[in-house]
Amino acid sequence: MKKVGIIGWRGMVGSVLMERMRQEGDFQGYEPSFFSTSQAGQAGPEVNGTVYELLDARNVALLSEMDIIVSCQGGGYTAEVHPQLLAKNWAGYWIDAASKLRLDEDSIIVLDPVNRNVIDQGLAKGIKKYIGGNCTVSLMMMGLGGLFAKGWVEWITSQTYQAASGAGAKNMRELVEQMRLVGENAQDYLDDPATTILNLDRNVIDTLRNPAFPTANFGAPLAGSLIPWIDSPMDNGQTREEWKGVTETNKILGLAPGTIPIDGCCVRIGSMRCHSQAFTVKLKKDIPLSEIEQAIGEHNQWVQLVANTKEETLKELTPARVTGTLDIPVGRLRKMNIGPEYLSAFSVGDQLLWGAAEPVRRMLKIALEYIG
Ligand code: HSE
Repeated sequence: MKKVGIIGWRGMVGSVLMERMRQEGDFQGYEPSFFSTSQAGQAGPEVNGTVYELLDARNVALLSEMDIIVSCQGGGYTAEVHPQLLAKNWAGYWIDAASKLRLDEDSIIVLDPVNRNVIDQGLAKGIKKYIGGNCTVSLMMMGLGGLFAKGWVEWITSQTYQAASGAGAKNMRELVEQMRLVGENAQDYLDDPATTILNLDRNVIDTLRNPAFPTANFGAPLAGSLIPWIDSPMDNGQTREEWKGVTETNKILGLAPGTIPIDGCCVRIGSMRCHSQAFTVKLKKDIPLSEIEQAIGEHNQWVQLVANTKEETLKELTPARVTGTLDIPVGRLRKMNIGPEYLSAFSVGDQLLWGAAEPVRRMLKIALEYIG
């Protein structure tokens, strides 16, 4: 029986992965092992009635017995352990949610509803590194996959509205702490219907600007505000998150770097775990909106066309609606008044599901099928 090692299963992405694997009945047909960097020897998760003892995630000899390793442990762990496995001539498959190996020439970014052909070619060529994509990129491609598949896209700009979860679990807590403080400080003003709106507003901004306001993780208030900067600076003025858009999209599609230009401004907003994006798509030609809708809607079973009405948008196209589901609603579809080749669209997706755990979960199944 094939052996699969799972590392980082208790973290945020790892927990979502475990939840999805349980939901889908994935733990069968192979022997799972659970590794830990800090709790080796202790009781690990219970799967199908068995409680697995945790193995040492730094024991390279043990790891090298695995046919497939799935890591949600983060890039630092990958950087430390993956080279040690290769030094032992380990020939197994490394499936990773972290970005560390994503742009290696001999790695594939996995998003099988979009690039199953690239994954299959990679397996056939003997590629062993299969890495989940950046969440914003994966969610864009799940939503607009139909346009890419038709070869209609000349370029895209994407203005993002990214959730706290993309920055980590501590950031999600910090966002809610910030919300609590804003609400608590404003309580008397809110409860008094005679309070003028300017007094309420002044109270909120005083809270946000108070040096004691909790911003250790975000570095700035997010509740009642936003942060137009995600990740580290690049030399060209982009943030790394913005740079990933063009770099990863083309790699996912198996295209040469920069073939389809993509750029935009990535912004952190006070949503918990759904990233949203507003797209301007320059099409290669004037394509009727009905054909565009058909191409988008038919591309995969998770994309969901939302009528461009206020009622449907408020009902279907918000993080509050989408969180915790695999749905990728795409709405606000319309031709722009700039010209008939310019399409405007908006999409929402759960950053921890299609943005992180789901492509990794599905890749494990694909790899297991491939090695038989
Ligand atoms: N970098 C993303 C973010 C999440 O900060 O929202 C990971 O892909």
